Amino acid sequence: MSASRAPFLAAFRPAANPSVVQSQGRADSARAHVIVFGNEKGGSGKSTAAMHIAVALLRDGARVGTIDVDARQGTFTRYIENRRAWAAAKGLGTPLPEHRPIPPSTMTTRPEAEADEKARLDAAFADLLPVCDYIIADTPGSDTFLSRHAHTYADTLVTPLNDSFVDLDLLARVDPETLKVVRPSIYAETVWKQRQLRAMSGGKPVDWLVMRNRLSALAARNKRDMGAVLESLARRIGYRLAAGLSERVIYRELFLKGLTLLDLREEKTGIAMTMSHVAARQEVRDLLSALNLPSRLAPEQQAEAQETVYTP
Ligand SMILES: Nc1ncnc2c1ncn2[C@@H]1O[C@H](COP(=O)(O)OP(=O)(O)OP(=O)(O)O)[C@@H](O)[C@H]1O
Ligand SMILES: [Mg+2]
Repeated sequence: MSASRAPFLAAFRPAANPSVVQSQGRADSARAHVIVFGNEKGGSGKSTAAMHIAVALLRDGARVGTIDVDARQGTFTRYIENRRAWAAAKGLGTPLPEHRPIPPSTMTTRPEAEADEKARLDAAFADLLPVCDYIIADTPGSDTFLSRHAHTYADTLVTPLNDSFVDLDLLARVDPETLKVVRPSIYAETVWKQRQLRAMSGGKPVDWLVMRNRLSALAARNKRDMGAVLESLARRIGYRLAAGLSERVIYRELFLKGLTLLDLREEKTGIAMTMSHVAARQEVRDLLSALNLPSRLAPEQQAEAQETVYTP
């Protein structure tokens, strides 16, 4: 189903109520559900997780829009370009998202640059909101105007976090002796401000998930301590904790082909499925379930997706 749907902009589906589409920060079934991947810490796995969730949704038959808010680095865009090139080269019906990269402005003054960036990001959302089931936005590992503006669109915000107190430092200051949370830190404050902006504009509260990434298979003390601190921080700053992804080479290997673990069975990749791949694919499925996204599929499409795609 998914392959035959793309590109779906040709079959433009008007929203039931155009004013809802215009209104940033409102979630309802007439418009796409927006999932933003954000963390001001670089290299935490935002682009990798964003691509895996985008493909998981595409493979479920959903219409997916993707927005690269980190187009200067362009990892998300390149991942999708690689996917398109691989599909074309192999003659495969690999499902693709409707993609919009948003490069930083080249305007010289800051007000001009911000107005330009806001206009282009708003236009991308306005384009995709009425015709997609889900929009996935990947943001940079730094605090930029574009990133902050993208955060205000989030219905669901996903923050991947490497299993390290260095990464946790952007969420909270932690007492080294007691491991008690001393105070929320810079990224938690950014999210707090975006939540306030969204509440003021009448939007539904954002569902914030922190997902642990690159978890080691070993039961090390650091892993246990991180788990305990993240649990207590969740209550304090208001996120849900998702199990996340293990450290696995396969999450890096598939980038050049633009594939994810969820494509392996169907795309004749030449990559033999191992038990580790099956376990990794289950992690991605578990992450998708933890997001608890509103369903945008008709019941018969849900049944079709369940029957045909994910049996290991
Ligand atoms: N679970 C994982 N196992 C192994 N490698 C991983 C995993 N997740 C991410 N990586 C690798 O870690 C690196 C950083 O990941 P990624 O580019 O997704 O992070 P990012 O948060 O988007 O970074 P940036 O802030 O620079 O945009 C990449 O080399 C990626 O392949
Ligand atoms: Mg990235």
